[in-house]
Amino acid sequence: FHVTWDAEAAEKEGYDHFMLKEIHEQPKGLYETLNRRIEEDGSIKLDGINMTKEDIENFNKVFIVACGTAYHAGLVGKFAIESLAKIPVEIDVASEFRYRDPFVDDKTLFIAISQSGETLDTLAALREAKRKGARILSVVNVVGSSVARESDDVFYTWAGPEIAVASTKAYTTQLMCMYLIGLYMGRKKEVISDEKYNQYMSELQDIPDKLTELLKSESSIHDLAKELYKKEQVFFIGRGADAGVSYEGSLKLKEISYINSFAIAAGELKHGTIALIEKDTLVIALATQDKLYEKMLSNIQEVKARGAYVIGIAKEGNKEIEKQADRVIYIPDCMDEVSPLLSVVPLQILAYYIAKERGCDIDKPKNLAKSVTVE
Ligand code: G6P
Repeated sequence: FHVTWDAEAAEKEGYDHFMLKEIHEQPKGLYETLNRRIEEDGSIKLDGINMTKEDIENFNKVFIVACGTAYHAGLVGKFAIESLAKIPVEIDVASEFRYRDPFVDDKTLFIAISQSGETLDTLAALREAKRKGARILSVVNVVGSSVARESDDVFYTWAGPEIAVASTKAYTTQLMCMYLIGLYMGRKKEVISDEKYNQYMSELQDIPDKLTELLKSESSIHDLAKELYKKEQVFFIGRGADAGVSYEGSLKLKEISYINSFAIAAGELKHGTIALIEKDTLVIALATQDKLYEKMLSNIQEVKARGAYVIGIAKEGNKEIEKQADRVIYIPDCMDEVSPLLSVVPLQILAYYIAKERGCDIDKPKNLAKSVTVE
């Protein structure tokens, strides 16, 4: 009698790929990342962050630096921290930051975001900021990694180990951390009202359940992927927080399906990129921001007028988009500011099934590494 035991298959727990397993682990990762930080009285306790009120008031700028998907989490983080903590936030990719003599001093809070905590460019940028006197806060998934060890304060994402090269649950938990950092700083500085704080906290606490609900649309997104997988060019467009999510959706798709995909802030389309839109060009339009909804609808109209095939991403209830877009994927209703936690997920699933239909090696895409420890 002989039993064959495939350790990797066991680790995937019945999923075909680590990426799909990790997509499904997001509600749990988000729940952990948030709930480990909430005290009984509802206040946030940021374990690993030892900044005093005076420290926070002393900062006149935040600099977010990261690479790849972590950089995209930073794009949303900039929105969250600026609006919640009322402090200007600059953001840069680590490989650029290092070489451009950035304006950093002892009044700068430098935030490094990294899943692995071992990305060389991010580590080198952190060292450069430290040399210039900045306070270093890192948002990291791997406990005890180099970035974590070299930081003054460490805020862990509780995503659990991420194996697939294409990052999913690390990204959403990084977003959660950015909201928590913004809320924490805003609270310490007393620039955020109780009402706004409580509204944010209750919206964030609802996210894991909403995400579980959203994951039920997996099979309809799979059907959509079967229609779209032969496309060789895709554009992602969005405004505000949706622009940041567009970049991440586009990166996900190109990483694992090798489709030529491109993301742009929707309002910028008319300044050049619209020249590439022709009959049947696939455009994925994120329209989850209530205050920008009408603007997005006119951007969709612009590309439709040139023959594009448009997949819209909108909040449940915002049905007007159906008049413009060819297909719509709905996410559960939520406050504009936290919608990236939900809207990225259909994009992850779409990328996954498009790559699968194309027969790609999803967990180990060509030319890519999970962690880039060389320059
Ligand atoms: C590599 C990975 C990306 C990741 C980036 C940053 O390029 O393929 O998925 O986003 O590194 O990695 P980090 O571990 O610093 O988040």
